[in-house]
Amino acid sequence: MSILKIARMGHPVLQSSALPVKDPSALEIVGLVADMIDTLEDAEGVGLAAPQVHVPLRLVIFHVPQDEMTAGRYQNAGLDDEEAGVPLTVLINPKVEPLGEDTVEGMESCLSLPGMSGVVERYLRIRYSGLDLEGKAIEREAEGFHARVVQHECDHLDGILYPMRISDMIDFGYTEELKRAISAANSEQE
Ligand code: NI
Repeated sequence: MSILKIARMGHPVLQSSALPVKDPSALEIVGLVADMIDTLEDAEGVGLAAPQVHVPLRLVIFHVPQDEMTAGRYQNAGLDDEEAGVPLTVLINPKVEPLGEDTVEGMESCLSLPGMSGVVERYLRIRYSGLDLEGKAIEREAEGFHARVVQHECDHLDGILYPMRISDMIDFGYTEELKRAISAANSEQE
């Protein structure tokens, strides 16, 4: 197992449509996933798509820590505070469909754009499906931050990075600066 190099925005591997995985249980896929898990842990991220580690295949991994689900900044996402976290999930050849028309704005960042964040509108509720490493079907419904993570990661498989979905570029910038601006705005309100 090893930590892989993460491609940054501008690299062609992040711009193309990834290919389906033919055999989820093949040894090279199992090895790739193990390395992606190491890489995600090292980077302290919530999700990683195979193209981000220079492998143009339709495979993503993600997890949703419980504190992300209940953190104040996501409360406007219509989340139930009781909602539990999502354990590390390997999703191969995923399909995502919106459940309803409702969308919600939220802050996103990406390991391929270190230090940056932006506000992105996503579907509030989705259904997603795919295969796990044993080739077994996964089908789940998700909402809020969980739904956001899955939409973000699956976008990577179609060459889409979150800045491409930002409607107003004033909502895009360095995470440190955005946090500073938000805390300044909050203290003004008090
Ligand atoms: Ni990303």
